[in-house]
Amino acid sequence: MSVATFFDEMSYGPAPEADTEARAWLTRHEGKLGHFINGAFVGSASGKSFDTFEPATGKLLAKIAHGGRDDVNAAVAAARKAQGPWAKLSGHARARHLYALARLIQRHARLIAVVEALDNGKPIRETRDIDIPLAARHFYHHAGWAQLQETEFADQVPVGVVGQVIPWNFPFLMLAWKVAPALALGNSVILKPAEFTPLTALLFAELAAAAGLPPGVLNVVTGEGETGALIVEHEDIDKIAFTGSTEVGRLIREKTAGSGKSLTLELGGKSPFIVFDDADIDAAVEGVVDAIWFNQGQVCCAGSRLLVQEGVAPVFHDRLKRRMETLRVGHPLDKAIDMAAIVAPVQLQRIEELVAKGVAEGASMHQPKIELPKGGSFFRPTLLTGVQPTSVVATEEIFGPVAVSMTFRTPEEAIQLANHSRYGLAASVWSETIGLALHVAAKLAAGVVWVNATNLFDASSGFGGKRESGFGREGGREGCYEYLKPKAWMGRKLRPEHGLPAPKQAAGDFAVPALDRTAKLFVGGKQARPDGNYSRPVLSPKGKVIGEVGEGNRKDIRNAVVAARGASGWSSATAHNRAQILYYIAENLSSRGAEFAGRIAAMTGASAANARAEVEASIARLFSYGAWADKYEGTVHQPPLRGVALAMPEPQGVVGVICPPEAPLLGLVSLVAPLIAVGNRVVAVPSEAHPLAATDFYSVLETSDVPPGVINIVTGSAIELAKALAAHNDVDALWAFGSPELSTLVEKLSVGNLKRTFVDYGKAIDWTDRSAAEGQAFLRRAVDVKNIWIPYGE
Ligand code: NAI
Repeated sequence: MSVATFFDEMSYGPAPEADTEARAWLTRHEGKLGHFINGAFVGSASGKSFDTFEPATGKLLAKIAHGGRDDVNAAVAAARKAQGPWAKLSGHARARHLYALARLIQRHARLIAVVEALDNGKPIRETRDIDIPLAARHFYHHAGWAQLQETEFADQVPVGVVGQVIPWNFPFLMLAWKVAPALALGNSVILKPAEFTPLTALLFAELAAAAGLPPGVLNVVTGEGETGALIVEHEDIDKIAFTGSTEVGRLIREKTAGSGKSLTLELGGKSPFIVFDDADIDAAVEGVVDAIWFNQGQVCCAGSRLLVQEGVAPVFHDRLKRRMETLRVGHPLDKAIDMAAIVAPVQLQRIEELVAKGVAEGASMHQPKIELPKGGSFFRPTLLTGVQPTSVVATEEIFGPVAVSMTFRTPEEAIQLANHSRYGLAASVWSETIGLALHVAAKLAAGVVWVNATNLFDASSGFGGKRESGFGREGGREGCYEYLKPKAWMGRKLRPEHGLPAPKQAAGDFAVPALDRTAKLFVGGKQARPDGNYSRPVLSPKGKVIGEVGEGNRKDIRNAVVAARGASGWSSATAHNRAQILYYIAENLSSRGAEFAGRIAAMTGASAANARAEVEASIARLFSYGAWADKYEGTVHQPPLRGVALAMPEPQGVVGVICPPEAPLLGLVSLVAPLIAVGNRVVAVPSEAHPLAATDFYSVLETSDVPPGVINIVTGSAIELAKALAAHNDVDALWAFGSPELSTLVEKLSVGNLKRTFVDYGKAIDWTDRSAAEGQAFLRRAVDVKNIWIPYGE
């Protein structure tokens, strides 16, 4: 071919990255890798193994040990032994280890990038320029948190031994997201990489050990789902961190319910990519390339649902189709391609089936006429237009290079369509009008929003979802808290059983009947009779009936949730306004302090002094959260990219609260006040044994300008009402304090909409102890942090 023809065509030739070093590493291990436990490779106790293939060619890469119970036990034992000494190291010593790991990743970047591309099938351009540098950045950033741990997290201790189960789409980056914070903050790890992509985790463990990471601090057990399940169920693991499908995330929520294990889930998504008619269309088209064709669309936060304003839809789709013709699909090690292989034939088949369904449901399919490599698992970049919002391809995560496109007319319609999803991971907004973009960003139900950008990540900025995209954050300060627990909760003991006393009636005790004063429920700012018209007696410690309260049921919970949903104005009220109302509640409670103290003493048998102290502590707590309301604020992150990320704490929405049996007023106030301070609306179930302080509280609320529906109170059985709240899909979070059974039930039944739970596993805290019962530990659980990435500066 002549030089002139080259200039005419400007076509690419193959530009392969060498794989010699990567193949040599596999050969050194004779194509067979064991688990990495306690600082060394070991074979499976059962001798079983499985194969990992090259997705681009279908060729065998290596044989991998299959983790069974004995292997998991060995890894947990090693991690347990290592954790104490690792946590006892100074933050500075751990920082040096993390720093060494970051440097090690940089030194071996090329080897890791090639192994990753071979094993996963993704383009070397991405592993080299994105996955591996971002992973190194995570270790650097968290070396910093280790260094600062003693001062920045002085009131926290490490969670302990952590089981981490990760997926195949970003094998090395997900390792970094999980391992870096865990190790930095003094935990030890058992990591299970995905069965399709185990190699870089093993390579990293080997390199880390050689660089001096103490044995047992990081263990890698390889295997399939069943190995993951063994880790999830292991009794000596304190926390599970999982990234993967929503289906498996649900299973893990159920299996860990009541175990006391801390849990973070980073699950699927169907993230909207919204293009307004005033967007820079060419930039938005390029955005789509990064949103859905990056990593073959196998990205949990892929911008897979295009929402395009009607007026620009034709031109946008035309330009997008034109751009699609220039995409190149090729071998992962070819440096000049846009897309490479799908991770495995089974995933390819899933994509093919879903696309066929979309077409059957009426979508028009566009695929560019580009060459695909022969053999291996490849799929063309695909655009489906004319998609209905309810169709399978618009609601299910396809996890492949398939964008579905819909149109909208107004910003409000865009928001509605965007939020019409069971997921809430990420979103991307394209508009040159800053006011419009930020107005929409604030209203999107997503953990991350990118303005005029997409798929930006950094260790300093938390990443994670809402709704069925899971809970917990990775990265940033909020990500650190996922690997810590409050020191003040360390010595908690199981609370004594709070059996209800049997009512007593002495023979011949013909008292003059009092006027019927059955306390009602408090729903939507009004006192309401319980649906069933039943009531239950409230007894003194000696069994004397001192009052009656309504017996709330499922219907009452439903009504209360409707009222709370309706009070959405509270979530957008100013923090100043919420603070004022908290102070006002405190003021009105204070003016009736003696009456409340008397009630507490009568119900609980507390001394007059203690009852009075409970009232005073409740007033002070209301003040504390009034103080916090306008001080629990977000952060502006400055990631090493052109832009800033606004980390905004957002209320979770409607939160159910099951109050502890003890401290009938202070318990209620300690849980409800932090929630409403940051803008949640609450359905509270007061102490089952001593509910009258809460029912007396109605009139305090009525006189304190609390908008109707912000606080709803339903009395009755803690367990029965918790069941109704946990199963309710319009309840976003559920806090429950009481028996161990209550905690288990709440965690188990919350799987439906994957609501956030905050439970005490039956372990009591002293509600008068401010360090244990007040402050940021509660506020953090009352919000989700949304990171809004915006262009800023040069
Ligand atoms: P998956 O959720 O089954 O696998 C993720 C990890 O969990 C792997 O390490 C796997 O071995 C492990 N695992 C599987 N079952 C387990 C169990 N019962 N207990 C503990 N660990 C278990 O995802 P899979 O099957 O690989 O992919 C299926 C679909 O899931 C994809 O098409 C995609 O839609 C979604 N997915 C989403 C990801 C995300 O980041 N949001 C990542 C991977 C998959």
